[in-house]
Amino acid sequence: MQYIVDSAHLEEIRECVEFYPLDGVTTNPTIISKEHSDFVKLIKEIRAIIGAERMLHIQTTATTSEAIVKEAVALMEAVGGDFYIKVPISPEGLKATMALKRMGIKVTETAIFTPQQALIAAKAGASYIAPYVNRLDNIVSDGVHVVSEIVEMFKRYDIDCKVLAASFKNTEQIHKIAMVGAHAVTISPDLFKKLTYHPLTLYAIDDFQKDWESVYGDETVLDLLEEK
Ligand code: G3P
Repeated sequence: MQYIVDSAHLEEIRECVEFYPLDGVTTNPTIISKEHSDFVKLIKEIRAIIGAERMLHIQTTATTSEAIVKEAVALMEAVGGDFYIKVPISPEGLKATMALKRMGIKVTETAIFTPQQALIAAKAGASYIAPYVNRLDNIVSDGVHVVSEIVEMFKRYDIDCKVLAASFKNTEQIHKIAMVGAHAVTISPDLFKKLTYHPLTLYAIDDFQKDWESVYGDETVLDLLEEK
């Protein structure tokens, strides 16, 4: 499964690149606006931090297909590397997706809430579709079930489009999404920390340390190897 961070906060992204096996960054206008920053400088800095090889998904704010295509081309030129234009699903968005597919520009169709939206976006040529798990849970619509139906449909029809589950509030949602075979999740930096934390792991590490020190004091493995 691919792990992507849903953030435009430079320090958070830097930390995720350093400490986790990060596959990319997703943003949306809400996430970008939280930074109150020079937009172009910000997205170029994100690219510089993650390198050309990690995915960068940036959302369009245009509402007509022609304007979406123009924005996608300009954004791709500005940030380079492995770039995806995020397009919220709508008739104009789908028209833009089909045009972008013909042009070889990769699309992540976003704001997906139903399996049929996902199927149509995939057929239009999206490389990823992004269903919103927690927002579905908030309206008692079972985000994991919706994602499982999308994964199942894509398998059944042998569709070349990945499911990038988005909108998470806890680790349980992420675990269940992994169990139904989503290809990718985009999560907050805070959830990266929560996914890898367990108090028993900390106790175990502490015990290993104490047992080692009871015999070797503060000498490290490297110290002992270098003494030979
Ligand atoms: O990119 C979509 C995702 O960020 C939505 O998450 O937490 O606003 O529901 P949230």
